[in-house]
Amino acid sequence: MDTDKGTAAPKGRIEELSENERRLLRVLLEEPDGLEVDEAAERLKLKPEHVRGAASWLASKGFAATEDETTVRLGLSEEGRRYASEGVPERRLFGYVRDAGGRSELDKARSESGLTDHEFGVALSWWSRKGLGRIEKEGDRRVLVAGEDPPEQPDEALLAVLDGADGADPGSVDDEGLELLRQRKGLVTEHESKRTRVRLADDVDVDRAVLDEAADAIEQITPDVIRSGAWRDRPIRPFDVSAPVPRAVSGKPHPLQQIIDEVYEIFLEMGFEEISYDYVQSTFWNMDALFIPQDHPARELQDTFYLDRPKRLPIPDDVVDQVAEVHETGGDTGSRGWGGRFDRDEARRGLLRTHTTVGTIRHLAANPDKPCRVFSVGRVFRSETMDRTHLPEFHQIEGIATEPGANFRQLVGILTEFYRRLGFEKVRVRPGYFPYTEPSMEVDVFYNGKWMELGGSGIFRPEVTKPLGVTTPVLAWGLGLERLAMHRLGLDDIRDLYISDLEWLRAQPLR
Ligand code: PHE
Repeated sequence: MDTDKGTAAPKGRIEELSENERRLLRVLLEEPDGLEVDEAAERLKLKPEHVRGAASWLASKGFAATEDETTVRLGLSEEGRRYASEGVPERRLFGYVRDAGGRSELDKARSESGLTDHEFGVALSWWSRKGLGRIEKEGDRRVLVAGEDPPEQPDEALLAVLDGADGADPGSVDDEGLELLRQRKGLVTEHESKRTRVRLADDVDVDRAVLDEAADAIEQITPDVIRSGAWRDRPIRPFDVSAPVPRAVSGKPHPLQQIIDEVYEIFLEMGFEEISYDYVQSTFWNMDALFIPQDHPARELQDTFYLDRPKRLPIPDDVVDQVAEVHETGGDTGSRGWGGRFDRDEARRGLLRTHTTVGTIRHLAANPDKPCRVFSVGRVFRSETMDRTHLPEFHQIEGIATEPGANFRQLVGILTEFYRRLGFEKVRVRPGYFPYTEPSMEVDVFYNGKWMELGGSGIFRPEVTKPLGVTTPVLAWGLGLERLAMHRLGLDDIRDLYISDLEWLRAQPLR
């Protein structure tokens, strides 16, 4: 039983009750023991669901207490009803055998008794059990022999009861009959019905004068109420702005997408243009053009997803020649290169980009002598084992800025300004290492009393820019997005960003 005690003092005011609630309350005042919702509905000439609604509102406002009582009612299935009107199969079989002179060959009875195969089976299974008769053997034939005319059995009596009533209380019927009927599957049906009793809450003091006066209140402000001026003379039912209402959940961008949008906004405001390149790239652009040595450990299978299709991608011969020379000897960059022989077949291998620096380098190769400020936010792929801080697929915030005289302090300035606009006041760079930048820096942001490492940056080396024909210094960076998002959203497991936990998503504000 579900009880809503309702002993507390009323939380609501009588003036705030709806018409149905007030009417029900009047009934409750007259019924010290309370009554069933259906009964109240009848008295009030309201639909039971409306009374149930009013009752639960009265309960939540402290005026009433409700009790739910679930009861089971027994009834008959279609087959059960047929048994009730035509007789149970064994009795029908008994009648057939008796009329046939008290004996009938079993196979003959099967085909001539008028019972279906199913019913005949049922009848046979009860034949001896109920003492209706015997089954005798005559040679290889079996013969049904009817006994005394049997009195009505308890299951038959109960069938008649259930057939008449519209549902019976399991406690009120004959146990033996019910037990027998239940042994025959599918005859007795059970359905639950819920009844709600409602009564006045304990210790509630209803001022009838206020209740009467409230009856006159305007429930809804309609054009008519305004036009007629009724609002001047009659009280208006106050709204209860603290009443519980269903939660309205609206669609909104995923929190990670919201941060991506914010990053876009900031770079656009800072005068950057977006660039966008494919996930599938050649090793040449992803690594060789960035002066990453061909035997660099990060190229190993455990870090990079190489593709079977396309296994190889076309690469631009003229640029490859330049890059190959720089790798082998340093060319005219002032470097000694990595030595060895540059492997063009290796350079053609298809892969999923491991960083978005592949996009900025391609942009530079296509626009070697134009000052530019470009950025991208995109997915990158690394063959990492997933854990609290690693995903095989994540996002980088990438960018470059180049113009004659571009320098290190501008680079720090751009990054500091970018993070400041995202809400991080303190940014620092530390020396770092990337094969493609000199100087190379790690970028950290101060957050919650700690420095967190967010990415890499630097100025592209001549080994990178010269083969492309770029002559101005290129300031470059590649920053993590997920780490930033985790701190923003207060998550300590990166995977939570990609698990669509609807409850969590709904709770996230639209920023
Ligand atoms: N590509 C580097 C990374 O994936 C980041 C970086 C970009 C470093 C540009 C320097 C310059 O971590």
